[in-house]
Amino acid sequence: MKIAVVGTGYVGLVTGTCFAETGNQVVCVDIDERKVKMLQGGEIPIYEPGLDVLFDRNVAEGRLQFTTNLSEGIKEAEVIFLALPTPPGEDGSADLKYILKVADDLGNILDHYAVVIDKSTVPVGTAEKVTAAIAKNAKVDFDVVSNPEFLREGVAVEDFMKPDRVVVGTTSAKAKKIMEKLYAPLVRQGNPVIFMDERSAEMTKYAANSFLAMKITFMNEIANLCEKVGANVDDIRRGIGTDSRIGKRFLFAGIGYGGSCFPKDVQALAKTSADYDYDFRILKSVMDVNYDQKKKLLPMVNSYFNNDLKGKTIAVWGLAFKPYTDDIREAPALENIEALLQAGAQVVVYDPEAMANVKGLLGDQITYCHTPYAALDDADGLMIFTEWPQFRTPEFDKMGKLLKNKVIFDGRNLYELEQMKELGYTYFSIGRGCVDPQEA
Ligand code: UDX
Repeated sequence: MKIAVVGTGYVGLVTGTCFAETGNQVVCVDIDERKVKMLQGGEIPIYEPGLDVLFDRNVAEGRLQFTTNLSEGIKEAEVIFLALPTPPGEDGSADLKYILKVADDLGNILDHYAVVIDKSTVPVGTAEKVTAAIAKNAKVDFDVVSNPEFLREGVAVEDFMKPDRVVVGTTSAKAKKIMEKLYAPLVRQGNPVIFMDERSAEMTKYAANSFLAMKITFMNEIANLCEKVGANVDDIRRGIGTDSRIGKRFLFAGIGYGGSCFPKDVQALAKTSADYDYDFRILKSVMDVNYDQKKKLLPMVNSYFNNDLKGKTIAVWGLAFKPYTDDIREAPALENIEALLQAGAQVVVYDPEAMANVKGLLGDQITYCHTPYAALDDADGLMIFTEWPQFRTPEFDKMGKLLKNKVIFDGRNLYELEQMKELGYTYFSIGRGCVDPQEA
C-alpha cells in the first residue's frame, strides 16, 4: 500500500517506520526542513528504543522516504495519516490549527480517493471538522477516519507492532476495508481491530488514558492513606492486582504521573465535559491529587533536614518522566529540583538519557554527572524520581561511603524496606512508612 504520514513527531515517525516495516511504501511529510534533512540523512530526532533498526532497514530498502512537499508526499497514497501536534490551549482544550491547516491543503491538492486518518489525540467531533475542511475545496471523494494511537514511550515500537487492539472510527464501508487491509499484519495474533463511529473512537482514546491516570491516582491515594494507617501499599497492590477484574498493571504508587499524554488528556476530557455541561467529578480529583502527589517527597526532605536546606547538596537520580525515554514533559523531577533550588540547596543529577533536555531548561543551575555514583559524592541525601533499571540494584555499600548521610527519598518504591533496615539507611518511600535506623 502507498501511505503518507503528515507530521514526523514521535507518533508520526513510529507510525511511518512501522508501516514501512510491514511492507508498505511510506512517505513522511513535515514542514520543518531541518528535521526532514536530518531524517533524509538517516538521523532520528527522537530517542525510542528499537526504532533505529527498523528505520535504517526501511530507509535502506527504499520503503521509507521523507519530504517537505505535501503534494509529492500524498501522490497516489491510499491512506494519509495526520500525526500533527495538538498542543493544549490555555483552557486545556486541544488546539487543532495544525490539523485543520493540513486538511485545508488536502482539499486543494487531493486528486484521487484517499482515507485521511486522524492519528493524533483529538477532541470528540474533530473528524467532522477535518471532513468539512477538506470538503470545502475537494474535487474528489475521500473518507476521514479516527484511529487513535495507544503507544507508550519507550515501548512504542512493540506497542505498534503487537497492539492489544486497534480502534478505528469510521462509518464508511470503503474506508473500513482499507483499514482492515492496512492493519491485517499487526493483528495476526487475534487481537481485534475494533470498528465504531468516529466520535466513539475519539472518545475511546481519552477514556483509556483518563482511566489509566485514575488507576494510578487511586493507588497514590491508597498509598497516602497507608502511611496514616500503618499499612504497606506494595501488599495492597499485590492483594488487589491478582483480582483479574482489577489487573496487575498501572497499580504502582509513586511520585505522580507525568509525560505528554496523561496530564494533557485528562485535562482535555475535563474540558470536553465542561463544554457539554457535564460535571465529570472524578477527573477533577485525579488532577488535584496528582498535582499534590508530585510534591509528595518534599515534606519528608524538609523534616529530615529540619526545614533547612540552605547549603545542603541533594543528589537526584532520574529526570525523565519514566524510564526508557529522554522525555521530561511534566516530569516530577523538575518541580522538585526547582523547589530544592528555591530552598537554597545545591542539586546534582544523573539520568541515563534525559540530562541534555534538562540542561536546555535549567542550564548550569544544577550539576550534571556521568554516573549515578558521581552524583552521590559528598551529597547530603538522595532523591529518586525515575525507575531506571540501573537504580534498582545499586551498590549500597559504595553509596553509603559516598553520601554524607545514608538517607534516600524514593519516589518509585525501588527498594525493600527490610533490606534498607539491614543496610542502615534512613529510607522514605511512598505508602510504606519510613525506615529509620534510630528507631531500631
Ligand atoms: C501513555 C499511555 O500508556 C499510552 O497508551 C498513550 O498512547 C500515551 O500515554 P506514556 O505517557 O508514554 O503512555 O507512559 P506510561 O507508561 O503510560 O506512563 C505514564 C505515567 O504514569 C508515567 O509518569 C509513569 O511513571 C506513571 N505510572 C505508570 C505510575 O506512576 N504508576 C504506574 O503504575 C504506571
